[in-house]
Formats: sequence, structure tokens, C-alpha cells
Amino acid sequence: MAHPAILELSNVGKTFRSADGHVRPVLAGVDFSLREGEIVALLGQSGSGKSTLLRIMAGLIPADMGEVRYCGQPLYAPARAISMVFQSFALFPWLTVQQNVELGLEARGMAAPQRAAKAEGAIAMIGLAGFEGALPRELSGGMRQRVGIARALVTEPDVLLMDEAFSALDVLTGERLREDILDLWRGGGMPTRAMLVVSHNIEEAVLMADRVLIFASDPGRVRSQLAVKLPRPRDPESADVRLLIDEVYALMTAGAGRAGRSVDAAAGQAEAPALQTSLAERLPNADVARMDGLLERLLEPPFNGRADLPQLAEDTELTDAELLPAAHALALLGLALLDAGDLQITPLGQRYVEGSHTLRQELFGQQLLAHVPLAAHIRHSLEQAPNGRLPETLFLRLLAEQLDQAQAERVLQTAIAWGRHGEVFGYDYTTGMVHLPTGAEDDEALHDARP
Ligand SMILES: Nc1ncnc2c1ncn2[C@@H]1O[C@H](COP(=O)(O)OP(=O)(O)OP(=O)(O)O)[C@@H](O)[C@H]1O
Ligand SMILES: [Mg+2]
Repeated sequence: MAHPAILELSNVGKTFRSADGHVRPVLAGVDFSLREGEIVALLGQSGSGKSTLLRIMAGLIPADMGEVRYCGQPLYAPARAISMVFQSFALFPWLTVQQNVELGLEARGMAAPQRAAKAEGAIAMIGLAGFEGALPRELSGGMRQRVGIARALVTEPDVLLMDEAFSALDVLTGERLREDILDLWRGGGMPTRAMLVVSHNIEEAVLMADRVLIFASDPGRVRSQLAVKLPRPRDPESADVRLLIDEVYALMTAGAGRAGRSVDAAAGQAEAPALQTSLAERLPNADVARMDGLLERLLEPPFNGRADLPQLAEDTELTDAELLPAAHALALLGLALLDAGDLQITPLGQRYVEGSHTLRQELFGQQLLAHVPLAAHIRHSLEQAPNGRLPETLFLRLLAEQLDQAQAERVLQTAIAWGRHGEVFGYDYTTGMVHLPTGAEDDEALHDARP
């Protein structure tokens, strides 16, 4: 590409230390450049380090390894010319729209009249003229996010980093705002020379970006990228756009099939450390009911066992953030295969769907023990325990060696929900004890929610 790089990242790495002192790499070997005139979309699983990367790119936190250059110079501190928009609106509730937007300028020692004029300009540009005196609580979610964007734009940044800026909004409001930003961008209405947009929505990424980056997890790094050379405005229903969306789904699910997994396992060392890393694997955040529903739908016409993921998303009305983890979970358990952006039911998955409740539990439990080391470890530990009971905190501590607390809790919660469904172990919500199935694990208990 001929355009000069505005932000260049080379071999960027970041580690975080967990509460118990374990060091965990969150980003490793991130290489990429954001170039003059382009919009780049960044897609990746939850927890893969996207927000951390954005904070590094804005100079808000330092990288531990590698280098970030802004216009050729190493970036050491928050850069004035780089603005960030967050998912949560982060407005001060006691300040008016005008005052919230002016905040972006105050730190620069700009004179008050000039500040006011610039803020008014940014507010008008983003479509909020007339609301300067309103307080945030008087505005809708979409309008509040516009204030956040006006605050980012008022400083006339070279680079705008948007971290899921549209995902807290309802679909239509998010689309409107995205369109407005693209219009401003195209019309030269804003001074920004490059944008990086983090999204959980594949269609949004393809509609907005010149380039889509797909992040891998643990540690986070650029796994693949795809150029989007279609003219704007882009029609979401056009064949070209659908084709690219398909391609992105394929890239995002590549390597998640079981074949890929067993190859990985075979290549891993037979020594204990290999077990350690797989124990703390970030299980996809998918609940059993959704996995069941997806598998059932997959077997019905028009899919008859194989579905294109974008079509399945449309059919089931699941968002990408819901569908992809469920599809990954089915693949992990061997109930389906992910192949070139399609989800295909396996013979085992078909038996599962057609089976009775008891057969489903049995198959699920068997696959869980075979393919999820954490579940196998919990089961094995319970079998060794004197009364077949152990506190969940024991397993949480183990996970916290490699995941941060919130992720460790989420992963254990997923493992427990799956373990209960497969009758591999049970869990008592009142005591926080994990236990061997009593056989009398009644259906009522299976449905109660965690307090
Ligand atoms: N200050 C911190 N201290 C310790 N761990 C952190 C810190 N900030 C982030 N993490 C961890 O680093 C990992 C990456 O987090 P990050 O928020 O960058 O992911 P993300 O890709 O933005 O996820 P999401 O899609 O859910 O927003 C996560 O496991 C997160 O919990
Ligand atoms: Mg994030």
C-alpha cells in the first residue's frame, strides 16, 4: 500500500499480573500499521486483548514489548492527536452536553470562547445542535453516544479509535450512527485521517472497513486480515458484501474444528505443563440451551445438517457474539464441525439431537470428559476427594493462575453448567461446592439460576 503509516506497531506485547502474582501474556507479537485514509476493523473473541491494544495505541498504557510509533515517533504518553471512543458513554452526568464536549479541550489551556466555539462545531457535526444545554440523562442512548463521539472529535484527532462504540445501542440506532460517521468520513467533514473500529459484528466490520483484522486469543495477536475493496456506500444485501461476510466467518472459525484441536493436542508435549495450559483454556461462553437449539435448527430444513454461518445467524436471530461461541462449543465437543464458514452436524451430533433427554446427557458428558480437560480434571479431583465434594474456590484458584479473576469465574461457570448438563458433576449454589453426581440431580436443580 502506498499510503504512509500513521500508527505503526511492531512486535507489541503486553502481560498482566493476576492477583496471585502469576504473569499472563495478553498480547504478543502484534504487528500492524494503521495507514493514512483507511478504516480498519478489528474482530476477535471476548478477552482476546482488543481493548488493551487500543489503549496501547492511544498511549494510555505502555506496551511491555515492541514499539508503537505515531507519525514515525515512538509513542510514550497519551497522544493528543489520537482519540478513543468507548462502549460505555463515560459522560459526566452533572455536566451539560456542551460542558462534556469541552472537557476534551480544557486540558489544552485553550481560551474559553474558542473552546465553546469548537465544542459547538463538534456537537453540530455529530447531529446534536440544539442539545448543547441538555444533561446526559435527558438524552437517549444513541444521543449520549453521539456526545461521546463529539468529545473525541472536538480535539480534531488524526486517529480515531472506536471500541465497540455502537454495541451498547439498539440495532437501528447503532446503524444510524455508523452511517453518519461514514458520511462525515467520506465527506471530509472530520479531520480524522484513520480509524480503527473494534466490533463484535461481522457485518458492521465488512460494511465499514477497508481492511478487517482478525485477532487470535491467548495471547492476542493478528491472526489474519482481509482487504475490503468494495466501493461505498455498501449494500449489506449485495452479493459482494455477503461473500466477504462469509469469508470473515470462515476466517474467524478456522482451526476451531475438532480435527484442528486433536492435531494440536498431539503436537503438545506429553509432559505435565501441556495439561496446565489446556486446563485454563477459555471455554466458549455458550449455554447448553443455546447449543441444543442451534443443533436442532441445523438438522432441520433448509439446512439439513449443514449451514452457512451468516444464514444461520439470520435464521436464528442470534448476534455474532452469541452464535460464534455456541458454534465453537459444539465443535469443541464434536457435535458439529466448523468448516469454511459452515457449521455441519456430525453423526454424533445427529444422534444427540434425535436422542432422548437421557441419551443427550450421556453423550454430552462423554464428549465433555474427552475434550474439555478442565471438566475431566474436576471430575477426577472429585473422585479422589473423600466425600466426592470440593469447593469451587479450589478450581477458581487453579484457573486464576492463568486467567484474570473475571475470566476464571466465567470459565468455571461454563464448565460447571456443561458438567451438570452432562451429569459429570453437580454443583450446590448455596454452598459453592462441586460434587459427584448423586444420580438424583433433579431437573429442578438443573434449571435454577445462579444467585
Ligand atoms: N488491567 C488489567 N489487569 C489484569 N488483566 C487485565 C487488565 N486489563 C485487561 N485484562 C485482561 O486481559 C485480557 C484482554 O482484555 P481486553 O479487555 O483487552 O479484551 P477484549 O478483546 O477487549 O475483550 P472484549 O471483547 O470482551 O471487550 C482479558 O483476559 C482481561 O481480563
Ligand atoms: Mg474490549
